[in-house]
Amino acid sequence: MPPTPLNLSVIGAGHVGLVTAACLAEVGHRLIVIENDPVRLDLLNQDPPQVPIYEPGLQELVEKLRADRPEDFRFTDSIFEAVEETDAAFVCVGTPQGESGEADLFYVEKVASSIAEALAERNRQGYLVIEKSTVPVRTGQSIRRVMERVLAGRNRSEVSFEVASNPEFLAEGTALRDFFYPYRVVVGVESERGGEFLRSVYQPLLQRKFDWAPPGSLPDEFPEAEFLETDVQSAELIKHASNSFLALKISFINAVANVCERSGADVREVARGMGLDPRIGPRFLHAGAGFGGYCFPKDVAAFHHISSELGYPFDLLKNVLEINERQKQLVIEKLRKALWNLKAKTIAVWGLAFKPNTEDLRGAPALDLIRSLLDQEAEVRAYDPAVRKLPPDLQDRVALTESAEEAARGADAILLVTEWDEFAALSDEQLKEIQKGMNLTVVIDARNLFEPSRLRVLGFEYYGIGVP
Ligand code: UDX
Repeated sequence: MPPTPLNLSVIGAGHVGLVTAACLAEVGHRLIVIENDPVRLDLLNQDPPQVPIYEPGLQELVEKLRADRPEDFRFTDSIFEAVEETDAAFVCVGTPQGESGEADLFYVEKVASSIAEALAERNRQGYLVIEKSTVPVRTGQSIRRVMERVLAGRNRSEVSFEVASNPEFLAEGTALRDFFYPYRVVVGVESERGGEFLRSVYQPLLQRKFDWAPPGSLPDEFPEAEFLETDVQSAELIKHASNSFLALKISFINAVANVCERSGADVREVARGMGLDPRIGPRFLHAGAGFGGYCFPKDVAAFHHISSELGYPFDLLKNVLEINERQKQLVIEKLRKALWNLKAKTIAVWGLAFKPNTEDLRGAPALDLIRSLLDQEAEVRAYDPAVRKLPPDLQDRVALTESAEEAARGADAILLVTEWDEFAALSDEQLKEIQKGMNLTVVIDARNLFEPSRLRVLGFEYYGIGVP
């Protein structure tokens, strides 16, 4: 087994790349991070470094590493430097969604050929290229083919390398905790050597040999992580299958919520009753306005696309996406039912981010809901505790307010889309005050944040999702 600390590089200083690099440095390895966007690189190389993404704890960790161990945690734009000085590279570049749902692997291909160029030029042998970006199954094979072609083109086919897959399972807002205390570490490798190398990368983490601690105490639910070694294809599939399964759980409970609404049942009780069976589990059974974010919508579409391409159209996944889209239309229908025409009505949207504790608007259901409201000529006022800027197409059409109360002033309805603690913490007095300022007192609680009876007693006309 190679001795620790290891010399590693991370290619791409986005969410996954920065978290991976900082956490691996924190457990003792030496890291070089390659970023080719000059603005981002400049921010990271400032003193103190400026982390250009929102992730609790990351700025502090990056600052600490740069201050205490500047030689062991560096940012550069040179893949050549990284390949020369390290033994493995984690590829963490973006895999955006292409036009028909497929993952766009342009950046992965570019990185693979740059690494091959660098291996040839710097005469490296046995380098390990590890995919960490979420990629469709068999991307590892494509990386190998691209690299072999580049090496052959330079008459350097004798240069050896290995490809591995090590999918990440980080959720935004809890990414550091997810990294340090994973449920599992999955590595897909081509050889025993690759497996041993990756085991030693994660050894300090699996043995909990690090100082980092999450804010507060650790809940009991952090058993020791399992280190699972598979072939490359299986590891790639574990990522797509896991995200799709979680998205399936959400669409499933949203569909159940719609049956609840039509039958007088309460989806919160149904979810609780289902979740008590450990074979089902209680998590990701929260009905609402549908899933958003950068991962679920894109990964489910990409998994559907690759399965069709492989000759097995996995249509259940198409259904997961359809239910998710329909869920947003159903929220608008609830508003229409309560307010009749939406034209010239004022809607206060509470919560814009795709989930609480982030400012991320990528795939946020709130944006689709707002666009639909604007199409129907409603007036929209929006408030989110973290979001300070709307996408360009909405900037002039939606008033962004400084508080939930201000958004609701003069409104005909509140549409709650993100379950921020700040909304849950509103007292009866505050809610009454908000209600006094409204024109009509409709509340569509698209995350079932409030207890329906509480809001009804306060005088609101309350509608949740799948609750009587
Ligand atoms: C997700 C996965 O959780 C993570 O493992 C993976 O690596 C990346 O994708 P993330 O997108 O950050 O992480 O957010 P997550 O907390 O999973 O929520 C995704 C969406 O599902 C949010 O819009 C959320 O509101 C919605 N959701 C989640 C529900 O509607 N109901 C639920 O019960 C859970």
